[in-house]
Amino acid sequence: MKTTTSTRPSRSEFATHWRLDPAITFLNHGSYGACPEVVQDAQNEIRALMEREPVRFFMQHLERLTDVVRERVGAFVNCRPQDLSFTPNATISIATVLLNIDFKPGDEILVNTHEYMSAINELGRMGQRVGTKMVKATIPFPIANEQQVIDAVMASVTPRTKLAILSHITSPTAIILPVKKLTDMLHAKGIRVLIDGAHVPAQIPLDVTDLGADYYVADFHKWVSSPKGSSFIHVQPGLQRGFRPISLSSRVHNVRDDRAPFLAEFDYVGTSDYSALLCVPAAIEFFEKSIPGGIPALMKRNHDLVIKGRAAICNATGLTPPAPDDMLPSMATILLPPMPASLKGVKAVFGDPLQDRLVDEHRIQVPIWALPDCGTRFTRISAQLYNTLAEFEYFGKALAVELEREAGL
Ligand SMILES: Cc1ncc(COP(=O)(O)O)c(C=O)c1O
Repeated sequence: MKTTTSTRPSRSEFATHWRLDPAITFLNHGSYGACPEVVQDAQNEIRALMEREPVRFFMQHLERLTDVVRERVGAFVNCRPQDLSFTPNATISIATVLLNIDFKPGDEILVNTHEYMSAINELGRMGQRVGTKMVKATIPFPIANEQQVIDAVMASVTPRTKLAILSHITSPTAIILPVKKLTDMLHAKGIRVLIDGAHVPAQIPLDVTDLGADYYVADFHKWVSSPKGSSFIHVQPGLQRGFRPISLSSRVHNVRDDRAPFLAEFDYVGTSDYSALLCVPAAIEFFEKSIPGGIPALMKRNHDLVIKGRAAICNATGLTPPAPDDMLPSMATILLPPMPASLKGVKAVFGDPLQDRLVDEHRIQVPIWALPDCGTRFTRISAQLYNTLAEFEYFGKALAVELEREAGL
């Protein structure tokens, strides 16, 4: 293992709960989460139950266990359990919502320059198929305050806007959007709202009922750290009739008087491994117990850490924080100088040669991205329970070394 910076910093005392590679400083919880060992054990138990008697599992246990998840998640995000359905990920949840809205040619869907690409791509396909139009509000970055978000979004509303999609926490820029205020303002104009909360559960407080969006989708496998493949869709009761999965379940024709189709159809969408979803309660319980004060204390710790971590990186590199502290969750994005011309077109395992060098030379896993709408090049750090300030300081030093090297190319 090569390290050109100082000695590798330790993880926190909580890191023993994870099986992360000890040779890597892991600062990217945001992309795919990382599942603690006890939650992986819980998933193994569910899989064992499934394989012991598959018929009983799919015909009896699955529905009962899904309702346990519903109850737990309803209490966790503050909504009625019966208004929740589940899919494997936020990408599918967003596509499901779009498929369930009766769009007409010319209808506009309002997004913004910080939205995640799966939603944008799905809208591109829908535009070709249905004739809808995607309208993109330009939210500045660097950004000074949430009013700039409100102004940008509301200035892009037209009489044809039918739906607005808003990330609660943006993926590329890692800022919290004022979704409650925007939902109220958009509703006042008769526009439906889909909030993409992929990063939200267990990263910032979430009250789905208070937000009042028509649709709220989120992942569990990011900050709740459940195994990969677990997401929810909350749909307001008045919109649940005829709201169906993208692939229809074989149970659709089996109308029941004891269970709404909204639940029955999403609970079983064909044979698959539903164990990731079924151990969401175990993942919530892990965080509730792993730190005194439970998930509220976890979120505060991680938020405080990312602010200090960002400051350490900016100090080491001379880069400027592009967003105020109070818009940050437990992730932070920092804008970087553009990629040197000599590196353009160079093949990189992780997308950008700088990320490859951080992995290969310093053993640091952190994303380096470019999204034309949000700045030419940036990095995004994540602070999870296993991270320490020393790890961000270490990254700051390594980044300074690499940026200086690039400046000389
Ligand atoms: C804001 C946002 N929405 C949706 C997604 C898609 O999530 P998934 O990969 O779980 O489908 C992501 C992934 O990072 C995201 O950041």
